[in-house]
Amino acid sequence: MVMYVFALLSLFRQAAVRINPTPGSSSVTGVTGAEGPSSRQAGNWTFNHTLANLIRKEILHFLDPVRDMSILRGAVSPGDTVHYVLDRHSSTHISDTLYRLLPSNPPLRRQYHHSCAIVGNSGILLNSRCGHQIDQHPFVIRCNLAPVEEFSVDVGSRTDLVTMNPSVVQRAFGDLLTDEWRQRFAHRLRALGSSVLWVPAFMAKGGEERVEWALRLIQEQGLDVRTAVPSLRLLHAVRGYWLTKHVPIKRPSTGLLMYTLATRFCSQLHLYGFWPFPLDSHGAPVKYHYYDQLTYHYTSSAGPHVMPLEYRTLSALHSQGALQLHTGPCEPAETTGGRTEGLVV
Ligand SMILES: *[C@@H]1O[C@H](CO)[C@@H](O)[C@H](O)[C@H]1NC(C)=O
Ligand SMILES: *[C@@H]1O[C@H](CO)[C@@H](O)[C@H](O)[C@H]1NC(C)=O
Repeated sequence: MVMYVFALLSLFRQAAVRINPTPGSSSVTGVTGAEGPSSRQAGNWTFNHTLANLIRKEILHFLDPVRDMSILRGAVSPGDTVHYVLDRHSSTHISDTLYRLLPSNPPLRRQYHHSCAIVGNSGILLNSRCGHQIDQHPFVIRCNLAPVEEFSVDVGSRTDLVTMNPSVVQRAFGDLLTDEWRQRFAHRLRALGSSVLWVPAFMAKGGEERVEWALRLIQEQGLDVRTAVPSLRLLHAVRGYWLTKHVPIKRPSTGLLMYTLATRFCSQLHLYGFWPFPLDSHGAPVKYHYYDQLTYHYTSSAGPHVMPLEYRTLSALHSQGALQLHTGPCEPAETTGGRTEGLVV
């Protein structure tokens, strides 16, 4: 367990004042204020489609989200050697199981949605009652196979794409060592129907057996979930794009990867559950994940991600109208006639 070692409220304040680099944008409600952006305060906040289109074009110079979303079956053969993206000196092979579960066509080809939700896993979602609003987006992206059933009021229940780092198999599903864990895992995947399960199998060394066990289970149980494995160039491409924005991120978090990819598939991007701070805007503790007891030292240079930097970046984009960050409670559905402000194009 990692303990927080310094004044975290001041960390939040510092982040809150540094996220707004755009001159004249201080009038944007909710970003620099003590309460953070929330749908409640959307007020005069509007999407800037010109900016969103510009960002999409720039990202397309670095990656092709349609293609980089997954390695295709036609591009590889079973037994091919693959070097890990982050551990170039280590390699693994394309297993028969993985090969058979690779898509023949890009999983999100020809998809474009007027709005998408990307749901991060921060405990800030607890008691947010954002589930209804999240579920209304035509496309919902979730991270790391986070549970939804028991939390649907706050996080929603629909999923169109969900990521799964290999470590999740160990951390949340007992390494699939017992029948019970295998059943729980199968149950979780079955609930996804034919949504996309995005498995960064070749990012970092370690976990290849876990991926293999998970994929075998998908195959044995004949689950409908559509497996995708990001291209080997995706991470570098995403990093390259953000470098041109002066955001040096060695290892983008899943959330930032998803945002970068989703710009291609979505007109309006709504982010929920992104809050890399141990306290909320009122100073109350916020769990790292809404669903487990994991703790995390957000600013540690030892950790793989630089979440506060990513958050400042996303906040700046929020204040410019390129995306909408939802970090407060959502309005009850009744008051908006079931259609929540900000969702309508
Ligand atoms: C929206 O902007 C108008 C004009 O700038 C202002 O009068 C009004 O108070 C603002 N509303 C909110 C909710 O901020
Ligand atoms: C929208 O973004 C574009 C590109 O950054 C900018 O030129 C324009 O002023 C913005 N529009 C508004 C209303 O903020």
